[in-house]
Amino acid sequence: MQNQKTSIVFDQERAASYDQGNAKFAPIHETLHFLMHAVLAGLPADARILCVGAGTGLELLSLAQAFPQWQFTAVEPAAPMLEICRQKAEESDIASRITFHEGYLDSLPPMDLFDAATCLFVSHFLLLQEDISRFFGQIASRLRPGGYFVNATLASDQSTVQYDQLLETWLRLLKFSGMPIEQIEQLPTLYRQEVALRPLPEIESTMMSNGFNTPILFFQALHIYAWYAQRAI
Ligand SMILES: C[S@@+](CC[C@H](N)C(=O)[O-])C[C@H]1O[C@@H](n2cnc3c(N)ncnc32)[C@H](O)[C@@H]1O
Repeated sequence: MQNQKTSIVFDQERAASYDQGNAKFAPIHETLHFLMHAVLAGLPADARILCVGAGTGLELLSLAQAFPQWQFTAVEPAAPMLEICRQKAEESDIASRITFHEGYLDSLPPMDLFDAATCLFVSHFLLLQEDISRFFGQIASRLRPGGYFVNATLASDQSTVQYDQLLETWLRLLKFSGMPIEQIEQLPTLYRQEVALRPLPEIESTMMSNGFNTPILFFQALHIYAWYAQRAI
């Protein structure tokens, strides 16, 4: 699939409500970001970070505030999401530390290798195995040897009883968060057709086959998992 375009597009409407929707899950995102800070805290004071699928800038802003000298490149194909990221960066006075790239990794100009890459809540939108393999390979190729990759994604083995039971809890969480019932009812089908929840060993082996050392699982919240891995030397 050219440019790894996904079936769900982050258009104007989705972008406008993205941060408000996410705020209801702040305990999950904040914990993930907090732990990601610990994962990356050993990087140099002037580290360069690649944020793939930066969206409205949630992880980028969190990292930029925690590490005031780091420089960032935000890769984001959806213009409305990137525009919100840019506005928030300007309001927080960190825009001068960010290179904004509207597009995919394919079109990111050649630049010095990065110390780390983040990819939070993006890879489950890539449905085809060949796309996710190429995607992870592209990220690895942008990192210096030993550089860190943080990958957070929805994951599960959908053939298991555990998946069905955790899904019930997940849907209850979304209900508490105020998501409309009609939307919640569509999710079990969406998770089989438009989003790829892969079994954990499959994600780990795809990372390892595409340039990374053994991934370390450092976070789980229901169907959300996050790993870090270093680029193989
Ligand atoms: C759910 S949002 C996550 C945004 C942000 N990382 C966060 O944690 O809030 C997914 C983002 O990935 C972007 N995206 C989708 N496919 C992509 C791809 N192949 N490469 C880079 N970004 C992609 C979407 O446009 C969207 O903004």
